Amino acid sequence: MMYETRTLYDKEKIGSMTLFDRFVRSATYEGIASNKGEVTQALIKLYDKIADGAGLIITGHMYVHPLGKAASHQTGIYKDTLIPGLIKLANTVQYGERVHYNERSRVAFQLSHAGMSTSSRMIGTTPLAPSNNVVNPYTLKKPKEMSHEEILEVIDAFRIAALRAFEAEADAIQIHAAHGYLVSQFLSPFFNHRYDEWGGSDENRFRFLKEIIVSIRKELPRFPLIVKLNQCDWLPKGITPRLTAIYARWLEKLGVDAIEISGGTVSHSVFNMCRGEVPVNEIVQAQPEKFRPAIEEKFNKMVGKFDFEEAYNLEGAKVVADSVKNIPIILVGGLRKQATMKQIVQQNERIRFVSQSRPYIKIEGACISCNRCLAAVSNDLPIRCYERGFPKKKD
Ligand SMILES: Cc1cc2nc3c(=O)[nH]c(=O)nc-3n(C[C@H](O)[C@H](O)[C@H](O)COP(=O)(O)O)c2cc1C
Repeated sequence: MMYETRTLYDKEKIGSMTLFDRFVRSATYEGIASNKGEVTQALIKLYDKIADGAGLIITGHMYVHPLGKAASHQTGIYKDTLIPGLIKLANTVQYGERVHYNERSRVAFQLSHAGMSTSSRMIGTTPLAPSNNVVNPYTLKKPKEMSHEEILEVIDAFRIAALRAFEAEADAIQIHAAHGYLVSQFLSPFFNHRYDEWGGSDENRFRFLKEIIVSIRKELPRFPLIVKLNQCDWLPKGITPRLTAIYARWLEKLGVDAIEISGGTVSHSVFNMCRGEVPVNEIVQAQPEKFRPAIEEKFNKMVGKFDFEEAYNLEGAKVVADSVKNIPIILVGGLRKQATMKQIVQQNERIRFVSQSRPYIKIEGACISCNRCLAAVSNDLPIRCYERGFPKKKD
């Protein structure tokens, strides 16, 4: 078979976009936009550093609506005035050092809404979710169940954000439908307990993502469009590989160009998203004083239960890959050794790209999966490798 001769350095397409190799830098929140979501010089510097590092570079999640903001220094794409900064970001990746245009990295903007995976402190009001009966384990607060009008408003926010990404010269967009953010909350029976047209059956839980894709495709029929999905939530009655396989088949029919497969949720099972160490101290110190003992106890129980494994989403991704006919699958999660990655793309026809996040944070040297970069998110620190510990607080 053709795919047995693949290498990691083959050119490969996602929709109309040709990538110079099979490496993808998976979406990674950067923590260095302004607090209104504007692109900063620090962001440009970061993307300048990683440009050329992979055929496709996916930005950190950008919030499409003010109520979908997940973190204070997250990049925004919720209003037109953000576009000039976003153009600079896209061009920084596209005009890296490589001489020929065909050899340069392409950049995808990841579009996201946090849903209940944020706090009222962050957005100034109760976070939104498909249903209001799942408590946020960090804030211990319940979200607000979205009305039909609020659902339509967010679908439209994704559509307009896609148009902004196109105007900002991004080569592609990725809809963040993984990790327990809003789209993934709609897809997952763990979070979605609705019994109207937006829940109660697989078709209905899929409708929110479907309407986002349909509305974008209407206006941007050929703009490369990727969706990031969980193969598994690791939650009771949550998403499973078999359910994701159904969603993936529907997405292919809707004209999506590729699917990236991940797992875990930031709110309930974050170390399934990023297997490795559980940095208890760094997580606890981000929490308000009164919550610290309970959070410490909870995270102490997780220590040693999420040890790093290579390619930990592979088995689930294979189930999903079997359900699509033509589009490529991008695999993410614990991909480290080139020999393993090569074997994966040679043994699985549809898995054509290998995606990594933490190794690009480390930039040089091997990532040890200490997960302090992940704990940096809740500490509101810029994301970089904190293998040697967090900087000392000035106060
Ligand atoms: C600090 C940090 C920030 C992340 N931000 C995002 C994000 O913005 N969007 C997203 O889809 N995934 C995000 N992820 C998850 C990664 O894209 C990836 O799915 C996960 O880290 C597993 O891949 P890895 O083993 O190569 O790190 C983030 C991970 C880390 C460590």
